[in-house]
Amino acid sequence: MAAPTTATATATASSALAALLLCAAAFLAADAASGRHDPKAKAKPAAGADLLESACENITASQYKGPGLTADFCMRALYPETRATSARHPRDLALVAIDLARSAAADAGVVVGSELRAPVADDDEADWSKDTALTLRYGRIDYWTVARTARVCRAMVREYDPWVEGHKSGNLFPYTYLKCADRMMDAAFSCWNHISFDGEVKKAVWKEVTAAASLANLARAMVGQMLGIPDDDGPY
Ligand SMILES: *[C@@H]1O[C@H](CO)[C@@H](O)[C@H](O)[C@H]1NC(C)=O
Repeated sequence: MAAPTTATATATASSALAALLLCAAAFLAADAASGRHDPKAKAKPAAGADLLESACENITASQYKGPGLTADFCMRALYPETRATSARHPRDLALVAIDLARSAAADAGVVVGSELRAPVADDDEADWSKDTALTLRYGRIDYWTVARTARVCRAMVREYDPWVEGHKSGNLFPYTYLKCADRMMDAAFSCWNHISFDGEVKKAVWKEVTAAASLANLARAMVGQMLGIPDDDGPY
């Protein structure tokens, strides 16, 4: 009589234990799952497409002049780039954005230069006005500046080590990286701004001029993200 009771008790105890363990496991699983949605939880660092999305969402649109900058533009510009969707740190995104800005500035420099040389469509019309010719000349200088500065910024950003902290790391002051990106952004904006007021030539070069300014803004945003400095923290 005693044996079955003990057996039953043991069975009850062990099933209670099993239930407790199951419960604990379920609790831990639920906790782990909810942690991803709790903004206060220490999430594991994002990588790849998650990182890209997070970086793009962190863009503060109001900070950027010219064509501005949106999370949507950021995704459309960077998502097609394999190096961006496999990024391990915003530094990798900054490098891609700098490269895109550099090549967009080269394209804009080409169209601005060819407008400068090209006679205006109709033979009877005069060449560009002196003001427009000057706008195009300055634009060419601006894009030269963007492209040359991009090489400097790229080398600097490439050597930035995001995994170490403190002055022993060999990293420069955050300000130094931001200044470099600002130089690119300001030069691309300068031409965009002048062309935006020039109805005469605007249509011919607007697409390239806008792309160059947008991507220079993006490069600046990604350098900010690399440093962990929100882009509405400026001006520097
Ligand atoms: C975006 O901002 C959040 C909140 O500040 C931060 O935790 C996250 O790391 C940022 N994302 C990137 C890619 O820097």
